[in-house]
Amino acid sequence: MKIAFLVSEVAPYAKTGGLADVAGALPSYLSRAGLDIAVFCPFYKEVKRKGLTLIKAADRLPLPWKGGIELVSVWADPTTPYPICFIEHDGYFERDGLYGDENGDFADNGERFAFFCRAVLKSLKALPFEADIIHVNDWQTAIALAYLTRTALAEDEFYARMRSVCTIHNLAYQGLFPQAILESIGLPGRLFHPEALEFWGQVNFLKAGILYASTVTTVSPRYGREIQTPEFGFGLDGLLRRRGADIVGILNGVDYSAWDPSSDPSLPARYTSADPTGKAACKRELFKEFGLPVPRNDLPLLGLVTRLAGQKGVDILIDAFGGIFALGAKIVVLGEGDSALQNAMLAAGERYPSFLGIKICFDEGLARRVYAGSDMLLVPSRFEPCGLTQMYGLRYGAVPIVRITGGLDDTIEEYNPADGTGTGFKFAEPSAAGLVGAIRRALSAYSRKNVWAGIIRNGMAREFSWARSAGRYVELYEALAAK
Ligand code: ADP
Ligand code: GLC
Repeated sequence: MKIAFLVSEVAPYAKTGGLADVAGALPSYLSRAGLDIAVFCPFYKEVKRKGLTLIKAADRLPLPWKGGIELVSVWADPTTPYPICFIEHDGYFERDGLYGDENGDFADNGERFAFFCRAVLKSLKALPFEADIIHVNDWQTAIALAYLTRTALAEDEFYARMRSVCTIHNLAYQGLFPQAILESIGLPGRLFHPEALEFWGQVNFLKAGILYASTVTTVSPRYGREIQTPEFGFGLDGLLRRRGADIVGILNGVDYSAWDPSSDPSLPARYTSADPTGKAACKRELFKEFGLPVPRNDLPLLGLVTRLAGQKGVDILIDAFGGIFALGAKIVVLGEGDSALQNAMLAAGERYPSFLGIKICFDEGLARRVYAGSDMLLVPSRFEPCGLTQMYGLRYGAVPIVRITGGLDDTIEEYNPADGTGTGFKFAEPSAAGLVGAIRRALSAYSRKNVWAGIIRNGMAREFSWARSAGRYVELYEALAAK
């Protein structure tokens, strides 16, 4: 069975968040399960700059676009066990940033990703790669299904038999653009209709995925239920309820070959669950790397690794700083994103210089050192479709403190002092008091060394295996192909 996997970022080539980790790992497990998979991603400047030796899989395919003809080349990495293909268009992708820069989102994002999708569909025929399933991810690629099912491609027998899966990694981002975009990206004007892509006077790219996919998936079972409620539905809950029977929640996994503290080259010392001594060295180095005094006594260190966005509950944490520092804990924050949140963080850093270390940047190695050096990992999200950082925290022995929402609830079990089971600490109320309450419970367990060592062991032993989750995607694809 052939699967074309369309995605706007893929690790380790181009990454802004968890979507890239998923796109880097899931296809490799699907390939190992015997599927013939090809991943398609834009050929961004940062991929070009990596100096990879790529081969040209398709050369200057003519694609009608905005009244002219664009030439599309497809590049592939010959070193991977399945093709990872990059769609080249310098006008759209040869710039700093994947989705935007310091001035905000790029104004032509709708056109950029629509072009990418249209070009992938074109290249499938040229390669040729006659996909049984087109698997799209989030709004950037959901729009591919409008081309597949609502244009002349639907009458072309090469495309007509293709089935599709749309995975929602985050419903908060829908890809909203003015009505006029339909004409510029070559989609029929009749799609500007509430039963099609129209959404409160705009064109909604994600709606194309929700309406036209054979099956809609999301990245944890609880988030699959949450998005069908007004609280988490971002205006699409009615539509999602209508498709409720076709919505499947499949938990993301972790690529433990890439996330392993016993072999991670970015750490100052390596360790295992059986011999965690190296973790103490990671903690010491982390204090230094964040410019915090290394405490003489053993003080708990809490870490946060996140996009700085409203979703992540960063405001809750900022409100809680005073209460947390009063308990004697220190915090390191690695994050980048929303400028108001960046400034609020930096201001807090100035207020609590000996308690709080802050780095505003995106740094993969540093993220790993935070997981390794922290005693606890904070994930106070207001909503979280799956969340990967809490799972990395578990594997690196940083006990997660999470809000009860989405995938955080599905992956973390509250520590139970009665029988020593559990992997973390959870709170429901999205407030500083809720967060500080969970931290207080965690610190009380931390003060008893044996108890704490047991919680770390419980977490490091947890397996969120991609093999199992990939198996669920395989079943889904097979069921669709058989229809
Ligand atoms: P989301 O995709 O919503 O951002 P996830 O928890 O699914 O959240 O994935 C976040 C991914 O991005 C993880 O791999 C995490 O380590 C990484 N990450 C987030 N912020 C940073 C940062 N500032 N520097 C390096 N890595 C980061
Ligand atoms: C999104 C979500 C995150 C999820 C990731 C990968 O970015 O915010 O919760 O883990 O996608 O599916």
